[in-house]
Amino acid sequence: MTISEISVGTGSSARPANRGTTDPALQAWVKEIAAITQPTEIVWCDGSIAEADHLTKLLIAEDKLIRLNPEWRPNSYLARTDPKDVARVEDRTFICSTYEEDAGPTNNWRDPKQMRAELREVFTGSMRGRTMYVVPFSMGPLGGPISQLGVEITDSPYVVLNMGIMTRMGDRVYRMIEEGEAWVRTVHSVGYSLVDEDGQPREDLAWPCNDTKYIVQFPDTREVWSFGSGYGGNALLAKKCFALRIASVMARDEGWLAEHMLLIKITSPEGKSYHVAAAFPSACGKTNLAMLRPTIPGWKVETIGDDIAWLRPGTDGRLWAINPEAGFFGVAPGTGTSTNQTAVDTLWGNTIFTNVALREDGDVWWEGLTDTPPAHLTDWEGKPWTPDSGRPAAHPNSRFTVSAAQCPTIAEDWEDVDGVPIDAILFGGRRATNVPLVAQARSWKHGVFMGATISSEKTAAAEGTVGELRRDPFAMLPFCGYNMADYWAHWVKMGRTLGTQAPEIFQVNWFRKGDDGSFLWPGFGENARVLEWIVGRIEGTHAGENTAVGVIPAEGELNLDGLDLDADAVRQLFAVDKKSWRAECDLTEEYFEQFNGKVPAALQAELASLRYHLKD
Ligand code: GTP
Ligand code: MN
Ligand code: MN
Repeated sequence: MTISEISVGTGSSARPANRGTTDPALQAWVKEIAAITQPTEIVWCDGSIAEADHLTKLLIAEDKLIRLNPEWRPNSYLARTDPKDVARVEDRTFICSTYEEDAGPTNNWRDPKQMRAELREVFTGSMRGRTMYVVPFSMGPLGGPISQLGVEITDSPYVVLNMGIMTRMGDRVYRMIEEGEAWVRTVHSVGYSLVDEDGQPREDLAWPCNDTKYIVQFPDTREVWSFGSGYGGNALLAKKCFALRIASVMARDEGWLAEHMLLIKITSPEGKSYHVAAAFPSACGKTNLAMLRPTIPGWKVETIGDDIAWLRPGTDGRLWAINPEAGFFGVAPGTGTSTNQTAVDTLWGNTIFTNVALREDGDVWWEGLTDTPPAHLTDWEGKPWTPDSGRPAAHPNSRFTVSAAQCPTIAEDWEDVDGVPIDAILFGGRRATNVPLVAQARSWKHGVFMGATISSEKTAAAEGTVGELRRDPFAMLPFCGYNMADYWAHWVKMGRTLGTQAPEIFQVNWFRKGDDGSFLWPGFGENARVLEWIVGRIEGTHAGENTAVGVIPAEGELNLDGLDLDADAVRQLFAVDKKSWRAECDLTEEYFEQFNGKVPAALQAELASLRYHLKD
């Protein structure tokens, strides 16, 4: 088939065709990809409500989306994936920089020339019988100084609908590209053509995908190619692939930061506001902290972002941050009335649910939404389910896609084009031992060391000992688009740029356990008490107490009013066991060795300094 034979359409004849763009480079690229993938038609998406309605109806008609009961959940839908396509595929995620050293020991590197040849093969004809959608989007408010444009080509209407919620998608982006704005190229195919090699039609699947998957980043040319998966981080290429992997490389080259961080605004009883960014690994509580409801009177926490932040030094020398996304793609299980009421309220309607369970009344359910499960459900695979089925009703990585604007605690400045000025940065992991509830870094470099050593225990270690640690530096292990040691060096350098205007850095740990193996700290809304102490440190009203691992609250500084927590639990939450920390230093030294001498001298100096502080 030649290009002229491919029609420009709407996915059916129901809507007038959108002419897309006059930009020659964008037109040429779309033609080039169409020539390889050979779709039946090309749809230039405009981001309109009519377009979303049209695609939704199309998916419902094809049994690829279930309309939920509008009485309970208006304009909301359930998608069920192939059971083999339920999460990001890290072993099929590749960083194809020219030199292997630039990908570093923590990424899968492939030679870009070789990878391009492989991709050429799998993408050839991959959209036969399907419609190819061109999705123009902005990460961050349109035209903002920190924002970036991109275009995703995809053969999945599910992806188009999700991109419409997660990004600022639409026609205005074509206009900005026509005016000469730079944009990032991303290509996605589910890898299941509807016509086979012999030209015979193939039956479509409820969730088309391919057993062979590729999630490929080319940092040098700032491109993403994704094949074989229709799911979340593998397919919504604006998110992890662009906003973290490619953007982290852009940030290195241009002097800013692209991070796996939530953003919140905290207002004290005195009415003063602070902005905080926090990096926790996946499933360690970003979405929860982003929507925190303070239990202490007079404090207010508002949401700006729950997963990704782009941070850049402003003209005033401070660090300013935006949430580049427009929606939340959050984990459903564990999101409930008792843990995250704000998220539950956000999901009242206009939401796409993926792999949750379906109730008999046409609403959704997942583990943790309510304490008692309904008596009968249809599980995420479409099978009948009862509480004694012995398996979860919702997939543990089931998700919701919803517009951030719908969040009742969204901050009024969340779409400010210049972003918000950052007062504090938090790093946290899931540590049963060693790491105190909160500790302030002695300096920016000490803070970078805290970020670089974020970890969780692989096995539940006994109190006072450290087993093997699963490292997730800066919560960026799966998302850093270049050599992790170079990334640390970039953070050290950013500290020099920001100088005395740099935000304060803190390490937090909601997950420390007592001797009986239960959490010592109640967490969730009570984490506001830790935020209060952090504000006290910023204001200089709390003196803190120096320890080997940083500054912790001095006696009486952490507000424990009305909390049922005995003195021994508080002692255990902040205990610094020197022997155990020395063992942790040994593990950190070992961990650093894989970077072949690239670990910045500043971090080696921090490790030496920590060891010095840990001397008896
Ligand atoms: P991604 O969206 O995958 O990047 O992860 P996330 O960091 O947003 O994780 P999320 O907020 O979805 O993590 C939720 C998990 O952490 C759930 O199991 C929660 O119950 C748990 N969690 C969150 N906050 C707390 C807390 O303060 N204390 C305890 N004990 N658990 C928490
Ligand atoms: Mn995440
Ligand atoms: Mn999240």
